[in-house]
Amino acid sequence: MNILVTGSDGQLGSELKKLAVQKEEMHFFFHDLPDVDITDKERVAQVCRKHDITVIVNCAAYTAVDRAEEDAETVFRVNRDGAAVLARAAKECGALLMHVSTDYVFNGESCVPYRENDLPSPLGVYGRSKWEGEEEVRRIAPSYMIVRTSWLYSTHGHNFVKTMLRLGEEREELKVVFDQVGSPTYAADLAGALLSILARCDSAHTYAETYHYSNEGVCSWYDFARAIMKFKGLRCTVLPVGSEEYPTKVKRPHYSVLHKGKIKEHWGLDIPHWQDSLEKMLAKFG
Ligand SMILES: NC(=O)c1ccc[n+]([C@@H]2O[C@H](COP(=O)([O-])OP(=O)(O)OC[C@H]3O[C@@H](n4cnc5c(N)ncnc54)[C@H](OP(=O)(O)O)[C@@H]3O)[C@@H](O)[C@H]2O)c1
Repeated sequence: MNILVTGSDGQLGSELKKLAVQKEEMHFFFHDLPDVDITDKERVAQVCRKHDITVIVNCAAYTAVDRAEEDAETVFRVNRDGAAVLARAAKECGALLMHVSTDYVFNGESCVPYRENDLPSPLGVYGRSKWEGEEEVRRIAPSYMIVRTSWLYSTHGHNFVKTMLRLGEEREELKVVFDQVGSPTYAADLAGALLSILARCDSAHTYAETYHYSNEGVCSWYDFARAIMKFKGLRCTVLPVGSEEYPTKVKRPHYSVLHKGKIKEHWGLDIPHWQDSLEKMLAKFG
């Protein structure tokens, strides 16, 4: 199995890199900007041919949700058109495309966990671009798995956990929204799940699947922040506030819990609870 990982320096890509060393039967080719831009179809095709790629794992994305509102052209070029380039490359070399997407394709008006076939209705540019990227993958790639995830964090890159750790050291008090509910996902767990699926994939089979993956359990950003402070022994007081007190450029879904029954049933995954994974990540972070 020859696996191209795009966007490999991001949170998820970095966790895949760490796990890849344990997988002798899989040959990985990790690429990110500026070396491999997923919007550059010649370069992507060249890399796929050179390494006889049989699987593409797309971790590349424009992920700055607020900035996306003012940079729609770039966002759609990366998240929609880039996904289409990878889907075409997968078609040309007969590879499986594993494409990562987001809970932000939903508007958050549900009050029960979102299933894979629930109707997307994104609230902002980022969510719309990811949804259209998914649709390109479904339209073009002969064999694909789209894996939607939520509230991703890791020891790498920028994320909520690292922001809370910094603010928790600097401040005595912090306001965090309580009316946005979801499930945090430790990128190392998601990376492990993706590799576990790939290890059991049948290369002769054609896949056309959408899955949901996050850590188990549900919380608000407020609960999440409190857990970070508690596990790290930080004395900063976290105060709950409504979203209207914390205006952002783009509205976030109030409820973006993903139903994970399908991925667990198809691949026998045992998914850790978000609190256990947070503790693990914080222990590594030092
Ligand atoms: N972060 C979250 O909370 C979250 C939640 C749900 C779903 N997701 C999805 O999960 C996936 C992984 O997210 P992540 O948090 O690991 O993202 P990330 O840390 O932002 O990493 C994305 C990587 O892609 C690179 N990239 C951007 N444009 C590219 C291009 N044109 N060609 C090649 N690489 C490019 C980025 O480089 P630069 O840094 O130089 O731009 C970065 O290294 C994405 O599909 C994202 O939409 C993320």
